[in-house]
Amino acid sequence: MSALELTDVVVDYHGRGGRVRAVAGASISVDRGQVVGLVGESGCGKSTLARAAVGLVGAAGGTVTFEGRPVTALGRRARPAELVRLQLVFQNPYSSLNPRRTVGSQLADGLIDSGHRAARVPELLELVGLPPNAVKRFPHEFSGGQRQRIAIARALAADPSVIVLDEPLASLDASAQAQLANLLGRLARDLDVGLLLISHDLAIVRHVADTVSVMYLGRMVETAPTAELWDRPAHPYSASLIAAVPRADGAGTLPVALPGEVPDPANPPGGCRFNPRCPHAFDRCRVEDPPLVELVPTRSAACWLQPAGQPPEPLANLDAPSGVYMENPPNPSPSEGGVHP
Ligand SMILES: Nc1ncnc2c1ncn2[C@@H]1O[C@H](COP(=O)(O)OP(=O)(O)OP(=O)(O)O)[C@@H](O)[C@H]1O
Ligand SMILES: [Mg+2]
Repeated sequence: MSALELTDVVVDYHGRGGRVRAVAGASISVDRGQVVGLVGESGCGKSTLARAAVGLVGAAGGTVTFEGRPVTALGRRARPAELVRLQLVFQNPYSSLNPRRTVGSQLADGLIDSGHRAARVPELLELVGLPPNAVKRFPHEFSGGQRQRIAIARALAADPSVIVLDEPLASLDASAQAQLANLLGRLARDLDVGLLLISHDLAIVRHVADTVSVMYLGRMVETAPTAELWDRPAHPYSASLIAAVPRADGAGTLPVALPGEVPDPANPPGGCRFNPRCPHAFDRCRVEDPPLVELVPTRSAACWLQPAGQPPEPLANLDAPSGVYMENPPNPSPSEGGVHP
C-alpha cells in the first residue's frame, strides 16, 4: 500500500447555485521517495483533490488513506498526530508564514522531536539552501523563492513521509522555479519523501515527476510514468496538453483542435466528459463514459480508443490537421466566440 492513497474520491461543494461536484471519482497514490505530478486545466479539481488528500475537505465518496489509516475531514479540530507526517505546501508562501515571527522560531514550531530543536533548525535551512543567518530574520526579508524554501523547510520539520504541494512554483519567476523544482526532486530522493506536485506547468512536471496523473473535470483521464506519457500519451486530453504551445509567461496555449474551456462541473457533458472537445470523439463517446482502465501495469487511461490490457495506441497526431494554434488572448472577452463557444 502506498503512503498516500486516494481511491474513487468524490468531493462536492454546496453553494447557492446548488451542488458542484469538483472531484467526481478520482484515484491517485504517492509512495515515499516518489514525485507524482498532477496536471490539468484550471478548474479541473486539482486543489480540491489536494485538500481532500490532507483532510481539509471531506470526501462525499471514496477513500483517502495515509500510512494505512483513513484521513477524515478535520473540521475545526486540531490536526491529529498521525497526520503530522502528511504536509501541505501552498502556492503563496507569504500567506502561510507569520510575518511577525522569525524564520527560526517558525521552523522550531514545526519540529515534532522537541529534544533536538536547536540542532535541527540550521539543518533544515541547509536542506533547502538557505543561509544559517536566516534563523533570526523575518519572512519579508526574503525573496518569493526563498520564502517558498522556508515553507518547504517548515513542512520538512515534521519529518513527513508525504508532502502535497499545490502550485508551489506558480508565484515565482522562471529561474527561481527551476531551482526550486530541482530542490524538490533532490529532497524526495535524499529524504525518501513522497511528493504530490500539482502544477499547470507541464515543463516543470516533466522535469521532476516520476509519474504523472492527468485530471479532467474531476476525474483522472490518464496515469503514466512521465517519460512514457510524453512519448506516447494514451488519452487525447493528455496529448493536447503536451502539444500546447508554451507562451512566454509560462502558460500554455492549447491547439486549435482543443477549443473552449473546461465545462462547468455542476453540469458535466454526458458520455465521456471530454467528448465535446475531443478531436477523436465518435458515437460511443457521446453516450457512454469510459472507465479508467489499466493498459499495462504502469499505465491507465479512460478512453474508448485504448482498450484495457493493451499497450497504448499512438494517437493520430492531434496537432497535425491544421498546424494552426488558437491564440489565447490575455484578457479573453465573451465576444470572442471562436475561443469561448
Ligand atoms: N469553495 C468552493 N465552493 C464552490 N465551488 C468551488 C469551491 N472551490 C472550488 N470550486 C469549484 O470546484 C471546481 C474545481 O476547483 P479547483 O480549485 O479544485 O480546481 P483547480 O484544478 O485547482 O484549478 P486551478 O488550476 O485554477 O487552481 C471549479 O469548478 C471551482 O469553481
Ligand atoms: Mg488549484
